[in-house]
Amino acid sequence: MEALLRDVMAGMGQDAETASTLPPAAYTSQAFFNLEMAKIFRREWIPVGHIAQVPSEGDYFTIDVLNELLMVVRGTDRIRVLSRTCLHRWAPVAAGAGNAKRFSCPFHLWAYDLKGQLVSAPLMNHAKDFEPKRHSLPEIRSEIVGGTIYISFSSTARSIGDVLADHTRALADYRPSDMQIAYSVQFDLPFNWKIAVETFMEAYHHLGAHADTLERSFPAALHWVDDSREGWTAGHGYLKKSLPTSTVLQSGLLPFAHLTEDQKRRSLAHLIYPMHCIYMNVDRIHWTSILPLAPDKSRWVRHVLVSPESKALPDFAEIVERLRTSGLNITAEDVAVNTLQQLGAASSYAQAGRLCHLEKPVWQLADYIRRRIAS
Ligand code: FES
Ligand SMILES: [Fe+2]
Repeated sequence: MEALLRDVMAGMGQDAETASTLPPAAYTSQAFFNLEMAKIFRREWIPVGHIAQVPSEGDYFTIDVLNELLMVVRGTDRIRVLSRTCLHRWAPVAAGAGNAKRFSCPFHLWAYDLKGQLVSAPLMNHAKDFEPKRHSLPEIRSEIVGGTIYISFSSTARSIGDVLADHTRALADYRPSDMQIAYSVQFDLPFNWKIAVETFMEAYHHLGAHADTLERSFPAALHWVDDSREGWTAGHGYLKKSLPTSTVLQSGLLPFAHLTEDQKRRSLAHLIYPMHCIYMNVDRIHWTSILPLAPDKSRWVRHVLVSPESKALPDFAEIVERLRTSGLNITAEDVAVNTLQQLGAASSYAQAGRLCHLEKPVWQLADYIRRRIAS
């Protein structure tokens, strides 16, 4: 681990032109993964969902983050993120998603209200001085920014609303807090979380992985990436010049009202560090959270968000089915190559590789990780 850390930190001070990847062991080492969890994921803000998942009082969904079993609940007053591990003998008190007035543990029926307050504990009257009212499921610190529900396990992390003030302005025209969920997908990936984030952000791989799909409309060569800033970065693409703008307007959804003709021809990918990936299409937003599970395993949670006007379209259900299929096809192209990449990273012959200018986000993520690890 010491040698790996030395190798990782040796890249400090590189810039986009001189950069190489992190050492491959940073994608396979359990010790390095543990360090990332402690220095990054336990300290930063992690996106767990969108407010459109819990529009009404009593709505809830469950999500597991860093081995913590959590649930996001809309109470009478506000949204809370609560531990869902029972205060009695630790069984989870909720599963999946739904609407509830209270959460009743399946083991011995202790029950909690929407604030996590224990309201019933059957036959506990013999337990001396036991007062249900004094027991509540722990609440995890949370903030809602642009409709996204972020949590932090740190009590000292700077407010993500402050960190993302410029990002909030950049996204304001999309009305992200009003967005509705068209559909959601979740699956586990057999590779490191950084691989998923990097592939989301860099367009160099359109040449190979998406040769028959994205490369034909949004070619790698027409992409560029913003200079580094705190908290997030952005990658931009442009529709192939020979294609009409109508190429990107075929889903059947309504395009976002604020977009100019030129903006409709652009693609826009945002990464909010460490792993909140947002892709803006002309008529929908791909909201993605990539949760680390192990050095070689990640969980991909995606919500496809649309405007309320699009969701009200009479043929919305058919549109969603078409989108689901085409979206999964593109994702499958990434997953196939990233699965192989993880295998290659474990080879003793693998080494840090030089980066193309289109892979600036890969360098930016490495730079972010080095600075967090050094802190
Ligand atoms: S573990 Fe939940 S009631 Fe016993
Ligand atoms: Fe891709």
